Amino acid sequence: MTDIPVIGANGLNMPALGFGTFELDEETIGRVLPGAIELGYRHIDTAQIYRNEAAVGKAVAESGIDRSEFFLTTKVWVDRFAPEDLLASVQGSLERLGTDYVDLLLLHWPLFGGRGMNPTLEALMRARREGMARHIGISNFNIDHTEQAVAFCGEGQLMTNQVEYHVYLGQERLRRVLARHNLVLTAYMPLAKAHTVNDPVLWQIGEQYGKTAAQVALRWLVEQDRVAAIPATSNPHHAAANIDIFDFSLSKADQESIAGLDKNRRICNPDGLSPAWDD
Ligand SMILES: NC(=O)c1ccc[n+]([C@@H]2O[C@H](COP(=O)([O-])OP(=O)(O)OC[C@H]3O[C@@H](n4cnc5c(N)ncnc54)[C@H](OP(=O)(O)O)[C@@H]3O)[C@@H](O)[C@H]2O)c1
Repeated sequence: MTDIPVIGANGLNMPALGFGTFELDEETIGRVLPGAIELGYRHIDTAQIYRNEAAVGKAVAESGIDRSEFFLTTKVWVDRFAPEDLLASVQGSLERLGTDYVDLLLLHWPLFGGRGMNPTLEALMRARREGMARHIGISNFNIDHTEQAVAFCGEGQLMTNQVEYHVYLGQERLRRVLARHNLVLTAYMPLAKAHTVNDPVLWQIGEQYGKTAAQVALRWLVEQDRVAAIPATSNPHHAAANIDIFDFSLSKADQESIAGLDKNRRICNPDGLSPAWDD
């Protein structure tokens, strides 16, 4: 079993590598997640909108491993951002996940109605106060949103901004802002939706270490300070490969080659949800 390094900032204790579950239906989760947990995955990323929280909860319960060993993240969908809806929806998530609390509760996208984001942030903090979440955070917030959310909640209250981040999307400006406020960057689509898998530069780097391009792409992320990566897979072999990245380190020359891959290429940009990105 692989021991995954933990990001300890602000008492977070978040494993730097997690198991993403976007687009994995409950049957797939039931097939792949138990094996992934055996391999050592403890950080699992789900969301209300993925409609697979119950399967995640089942795999966790049936693992026989104490709940406290896991780091479970879920995200509140944007149609539940009215304060009373948010709290009720989190209660629903907890019931589906079969747990009294999540380790991290995120607002999925910065889409707020006429009253702005503060009432929703207040409700998020209340969910934490009431013990429904150990930690809270945001997702897909641009620099302006992040600054506003930190100003409202206070420094040290929000733990992460979960955003798209991979070798083709460097996120330099946002990274600086997150570092300044001591927020972890949780990298979603860390493999750039499998576009990294055939990258010749990453393959060439991996050859030195006996690793694949995908493993190099993930290693590059988890080597960074306060960065976590949450690749998703429906394939048990890929789950094993993705966790097998903690026995090598990238050299300075490797990192320079990887820096050259940044094309500011964003994959996740849904109409009606995406903010003005900081590209
Ligand atoms: N907050 C947000 O708005 C947001 C948005 C998007 C994603 N996310 C989170 O981030 C997670 C990851 O993002 P993602 O699933 O969209 O993209 P991703 O992890 O970058 O890529 C997943 C794709 O890579 C393939 N893959 C995985 N491991 C591989 C390997 N070792 N070799 C070859 N191919 C491999 C998978 O196919 P196979 O199934 O065949 O392995 C799948 O097609 C999501 O599951 C979700 O938890 C959050």
